[in-house]
Amino acid sequence: MARSLGATDVVSLAKSLQEMSMNGTEPPPQYFLKENSIKPTDSFLPSDPIPIIDISLLSSSSLSSKEGEDELEKLKSALTSWGCFQAIGHGISSSFLDKVRKVANQFFALPVEEKLKYSREVDGSEGYGNDRILSENQVLDWLYRLSLRLRPVDQRKLQLWPENPNEFREVLDEYGTKVKIIMDVLIKAMAKSLNLEENSFSSQFGERSVMQARFNFYPRCARPDLVLGVKPHSDRSGITVLLQDKEVEGLQVFKNDKWFIVSVIPHAFVVNLGDQMQIMSNGIFKSPMHRVVTNSERMRISVAMFNEPEPDKEIGPVDGLIDEKRPRLYRNVKNYAAFNFECFQKGVVPLESAKI
Ligand code: OGA
Ligand code: NI
Repeated sequence: MARSLGATDVVSLAKSLQEMSMNGTEPPPQYFLKENSIKPTDSFLPSDPIPIIDISLLSSSSLSSKEGEDELEKLKSALTSWGCFQAIGHGISSSFLDKVRKVANQFFALPVEEKLKYSREVDGSEGYGNDRILSENQVLDWLYRLSLRLRPVDQRKLQLWPENPNEFREVLDEYGTKVKIIMDVLIKAMAKSLNLEENSFSSQFGERSVMQARFNFYPRCARPDLVLGVKPHSDRSGITVLLQDKEVEGLQVFKNDKWFIVSVIPHAFVVNLGDQMQIMSNGIFKSPMHRVVTNSERMRISVAMFNEPEPDKEIGPVDGLIDEKRPRLYRNVKNYAAFNFECFQKGVVPLESAKI
């Protein structure tokens, strides 16, 4: 039976992770990887690196040039093989990205009591805290998160948006606007790369697509050989835009049965697809499994932005991607967030359950 911890358990757990990190104490066994998992250290630098894509070449006006066409081909190849790429040429200044990192750092550096003002509600998904604990044998992740919904704008829960540091809200709002524009360009380019009409995916996201920000804080951990920052998962989103830590690596992507290190390119984004794009593309594009490893020497901070279709909208494989050679792989689904959560509670893989 799934059991949720009460508010006091969550608070004490929240405190102890930070304390363990500061004191360099050995984490308790709830954080240890299961025996049969691939160890964090068992990972590689890819010989064929994760593609780097200049997204300034993917806007509608650039696509008619030869360079634009080549970049579009690269995009398609990246998404069918890796399901992710490093994005440069995104037009957001390095100084602004550093500011996003700075407010994230300042927030996580606040005293525990101050951060707990923005605590996640026990059964909610927004706010500050550790992961929800849904079963007793769940392996715990070594991180704190601050999750906030940015769009639709009328669904923002401002009481959970930090007022400290005082620029936090303003920076997040501006960052969200900038990243949304990039996501929209990418989602259109993805359709074009498959010779589809450019709105084929974006119309499924809808006018009121959901955008969520997640600030991840990975404290130092005394047992990086046994403890993960985030266990293997694929994102439930349509598309994810991740700002990695500027100096500390940690993200790894699974491909051909191996874990590959995603190098840090300081002002690039790591863009990966989520399950809902794998469904909409009828399995042509990949929603990659990824994980985050811990580090005994340095803490790490990342900021992920997720965009997913309106919950009430039914999504499914685009007609133009279904034929005799490639029959429909997935059924239509609605409210993938809830579906994903149910699957997680049952211990089944959501993408598998969505298969026909
Ligand atoms: C996530 C995630 C990666 C990272 O938040 O879903 O995969 O590098 N984060 O923090
Ligand atoms: Ni993820």
